[in-house]
Amino acid sequence: MRICVIGAGFVGLATGVTFGKHGHEVVVSDIDPVRIKSVNSGALPFFEPPLEKELKTLVKKGRLKATRDSVGAVRSSKVTFVCVQTPSLPSGRIDTRPLKAACKSVAKALKSSDDYKVIVVKSTVVPSTTDSFVQPIIERDSGRSAGKDFGLCMNPEFLQEGSALRDSMMPSRIVIGSIDRRSGDLVETLYKGFKSPIFRTNLRSAEMIKYASNTFLATKISYSNEIANMCVRFGIDSALVLEVVGKDPRIGSLFLRPGVGFGGSCLPKDVRALKDRARLEGYNSRLLSTLLAINDEQPREAIRLLESAIGSLGNKRIAVLGLAFKGGVDDVRETRAVPLITHLLAKHARVVAYDPMAIPNFIRLIPTIEYASSAAECLKGADGCIVQADWLQFKKIGKKEISSMRQRVIVDGRRFLDPVVVKKAGARYFGIGYGLS
Ligand code: NAD
Ligand code: UGA
Repeated sequence: MRICVIGAGFVGLATGVTFGKHGHEVVVSDIDPVRIKSVNSGALPFFEPPLEKELKTLVKKGRLKATRDSVGAVRSSKVTFVCVQTPSLPSGRIDTRPLKAACKSVAKALKSSDDYKVIVVKSTVVPSTTDSFVQPIIERDSGRSAGKDFGLCMNPEFLQEGSALRDSMMPSRIVIGSIDRRSGDLVETLYKGFKSPIFRTNLRSAEMIKYASNTFLATKISYSNEIANMCVRFGIDSALVLEVVGKDPRIGSLFLRPGVGFGGSCLPKDVRALKDRARLEGYNSRLLSTLLAINDEQPREAIRLLESAIGSLGNKRIAVLGLAFKGGVDDVRETRAVPLITHLLAKHARVVAYDPMAIPNFIRLIPTIEYASSAAECLKGADGCIVQADWLQFKKIGKKEISSMRQRVIVDGRRFLDPVVVKKAGARYFGIGYGLS
């Protein structure tokens, strides 16, 4: 089948490559000419090596190409996946302008084509967006009726950055919300051969499943941070506590790792968006407000631990390792490194930072600090270090790097280093929820 994907971002390219690998012909459209050029040369506009390898192969074989012509791409395809960004507005509401522009391109294409096509919203959108926003724009601008002239579906994406290809090829579940049976059936045929369970729903349930999933993940993280903050004050190591708590199958062991809070392009914005959507219906979600408040405070916990070790931070040289929103990616959207460094600067610390991949993106957010070209250089002469992102290579920091610090203090802001190894290398180890000395 010929498939169009609007939006050459993480989700759009993972979707395009996945369906390309399943034998479909894919055209990806975007408004950004730099992205188009990059995709057509087989290169990803972000760091996701396994996805890039498969993209290269598909581009070479001529099974995936990119274009700026969204209208033409939709017109020549049977199914179109809308994968544009839905970022937060200051109110927390999703910014629907990119979605609106994409819908207008879709409508233009439908107006000038006579065959039945299915439009699938894959972007994360709050409940009722597909039926009350997307559908009216397309119907009004195209003069066509949803359910009669074209099909409409909502198919949320559950991939994690850093494992985009694997998650997209082998999703834990596939949710197909549809306006009618015919649209859903066509989209379901695309998922033939996938080993994941498929759930057919209406449009709003599909939208809500996505938010219910992400807000639960965020809840687990804020819960873990609360438990960890208490443990450290009680002289207990939260790692063991949470490990054993996670053995209860009703709880589960994943996403119980405390740290400086959840960042990234999705969890924070999705919690805010669902809270705002509920408020519009007169419902005040105290749970969502509280888990955001816990998240906002969490970078201060790392700073508190650092201060407990070295005292006032004024004029101290503080190394921040990891600037991406998590290890393994170059994405800095809503990274916790921003509030962390902002708080450090407010305390008059001199910040030196390093990240294996994210410096070119991060430097645009905070250009005024010093950037190091390696973890070793970052630690040299530092009065303390906070590890903000769980890059595996930071586990290799040893005696040599630690002995170059002025004060040998490591604050593990992601609880992924081994305290024994860090202490053996000669540093004092502090970690979120690590209440032992
Ligand atoms: P992104 O910002 O990486 O990519 C979006 C792309 O859409 C950009 O390249 C942009 O130029 C393009 N675009 C914007 N308007 C357009 C238009 N009118 N026509 C054509 N192209 C247009 O976004 P993303 O991270 O891929 O996220 C997309 C959606 O998927 C969001 O709603 C997000 O919440 C959701 N999501 C993201 C992830 C993730 O891990 N990043 C996972 C699951 C769901
Ligand atoms: C998240 C979800 O995990 C995906 O399922 C979802 O599809 C995606 O959002 C989305 O909707 O875009 P992602 O943004 O890639 O994926 O990041 P996560 O791996 O979930 O991490 C988010 C943040 O939480 C990171 O800052 C990470 O360091 C933090 N985290 C994660 C913790 O603090 N503790 C944990 O135990 C896990």
